[in-house]
Amino acid sequence: MTPALLVAHESPRDTTAAAPAPDAADQGDHEHGAAVGEGETAYEMPPVAEALVHHLHNKLVHLPIVLTPIALLLLLADRRRSGAGYLATPLIWLAALGAVAAYLAGRAQEEAFADGPKAWLVEVHERWGIAVMITLGLWALSILWPRTKGYRWVLGLVGAGLALVAAFYGGLVAHG
Ligand code: HEM
Repeated sequence: MTPALLVAHESPRDTTAAAPAPDAADQGDHEHGAAVGEGETAYEMPPVAEALVHHLHNKLVHLPIVLTPIALLLLLADRRRSGAGYLATPLIWLAALGAVAAYLAGRAQEEAFADGPKAWLVEVHERWGIAVMITLGLWALSILWPRTKGYRWVLGLVGAGLALVAAFYGGLVAHG
């Protein structure tokens, strides 16, 4: 993986980026859906393997953000009519593991913001992200303790709320 694949778009320290080229892999700051301007060419698909690891954090965060509320809803449904809860278990584990992976990928991307105007925002976002990771980790571990079954949804609710806040700040870091 080249360093260029780990750096953040819009970064003031993104010295690895070449002069803006229309076919560069990173076109994150372009207006989405804007017409192709004069002298510009249409976006060219980078190699899939490269595209998959480019801004890895921005991809991995979808696991906790999406799976946490779904697993929570399944647990709540299980309180009314038993049966849906067993489906929640793999989702909770996947959300927790996704949060750990997102944390590691986020740490790799944060350097690009060091000393930049958003450095403080990355710090704030990181704290919320760590809170998400810890909460989802506890949520997953609670599955190993059957006595928590009736109350497990509480950790899911807290995790979903924290993930929303972390995602809000993450969006500001990336696009604000
Ligand atoms: C599981 C917890 C976390 C969640 C849910 C989360 C969520 C997000 C989201 C939604 C974005 C915007 C992605 C996009 O618009 O494409 C983002 C960006 C970012 N996050 Fe996180 N994040 C988490 C943890 C962390 C941690 C622990 C760090 C460590 C510093 C971190 C660093 C970053 C950075 C540097 C960006 C900007 C990436 C870029 O676009 O260049 N995140 N995060």
